[in-house]
Amino acid sequence: MPTNTAAWFLTSQAPLVVKSAPYTRPREGEIVIKNHAVAINPIDWVTPIFGTFVLPWIKYPFIFGSDLAGEVVEVGKGVTRFSVGDRVLGHASGMDSKRNSAAEGAFQEYTVVLAHMAAPIPNTLSYENAAVLPLTLSTAACGLFQKDQLALQYPSVHPRPTGKTLLIWGGSSSLGSNAIQLAVAAGYEVITTASPRNFDYVKKLGASQVFDYHNKTTVKEIIKAFNGKICAGALAIGAGSAEVCADIVHACNGNKFVSRASLPQSVSFDALPSDLRPGLDLRLLPFLFRFMVANTSMQIKFRTKGIRSKSISDSTSMDNEGYNEVCKVIYEDFLPQTLASGHYVAAPEPVVVGKGLDHIQAGLDAQRQGVSAKKVVVSL
Ligand SMILES: NC(=O)c1ccc[n+]([C@@H]2O[C@H](COP(=O)([O-])OP(=O)(O)OC[C@H]3O[C@@H](n4cnc5c(N)ncnc54)[C@H](OP(=O)(O)O)[C@@H]3O)[C@@H](O)[C@H]2O)c1
Repeated sequence: MPTNTAAWFLTSQAPLVVKSAPYTRPREGEIVIKNHAVAINPIDWVTPIFGTFVLPWIKYPFIFGSDLAGEVVEVGKGVTRFSVGDRVLGHASGMDSKRNSAAEGAFQEYTVVLAHMAAPIPNTLSYENAAVLPLTLSTAACGLFQKDQLALQYPSVHPRPTGKTLLIWGGSSSLGSNAIQLAVAAGYEVITTASPRNFDYVKKLGASQVFDYHNKTTVKEIIKAFNGKICAGALAIGAGSAEVCADIVHACNGNKFVSRASLPQSVSFDALPSDLRPGLDLRLLPFLFRFMVANTSMQIKFRTKGIRSKSISDSTSMDNEGYNEVCKVIYEDFLPQTLASGHYVAAPEPVVVGKGLDHIQAGLDAQRQGVSAKKVVVSL
């Protein structure tokens, strides 16, 4: 059996420690991947800072991380899609409440991954490029296709046009980059927002129109752009995006549903003091208070405007059959074909901060400082 090493959070209050970890063999429906690259998501640095307020089921010591790409080294019972030696990407599910397992965290040499949340990658795609996809691909797919979310038509290599237009607020984020491509592949026109430096980027991914979300006139301009179109609803990415998306879908003809990926207005993780480190800190209290006030006023706004809305994090759970079905559609049917044919691109571009598990902390710090149309990646 191989020896394994991981980047551990020993407690929620301690910095990362790189040390040995058990090698866990796959059970039915699982594979083990030897990781060659992992990517960093906001949740990876947010969770330890908030202690038990975010993902309260996590018991330390724990191994974080959701995004990985590497080579299959062992295949569990009943898995027929993969063989030892296959190059794959995978969404590691260890942080999910139903999995809650350090063996399934990405920040280690060997990770157990659910086979239906992994996909083969073409030889032309580097592990670093492939690792940018999994978590935000799954999240975008959940928001767009799950029946308790926007319930859009599934994507395919040859999209059947629906004649409907979707609003994706925050198109240049990692989540938005996947959402734009998935929605276009599902037959929807996409209107999105980004900073002007990323206008060309989101258009290359398939958006038909893009607006600068910093402008005060943007909501009005987007409502005008929807004139004569049927709105398929909105995917809201970025703090405060759900409230503005509600204003837009309210004014447009079509589906009055907002799928929410981010926190309400005036509550952004970016606003946390930069010296806040893992562990309970009294400076979190104003943030939690603002969250409760902003969440209540957002819910009131939805009610008065007749908007249906749901947070994506409420739907991405392993005991949600809809989530598992959507993941199967994406990782088994759609992604392998479209990555190989070039119809789907691994976006955004990776920024590789180093090689080895010792660089995970630098990756968390770089993600926390903020990225623009980029994904922080560590090579292993
Ligand atoms: N399960 C879940 O619910 C789930 C999973 C993954 C992510 N998320 C959430 O989804 C959001 C995006 O995650 P990510 O990993 O994709 O982030 P990311 O790539 O790190 O986000 C950075 C990007 O967000 C854009 N942005 C920042 N604030 C914005 C705003 N107010 N309106 C529109 N765009 C804005 C920036 O665009 P410009 O540079 O063009 O200005 C930048 O490109 C985060 O809030 C994250 O917590 C939720």
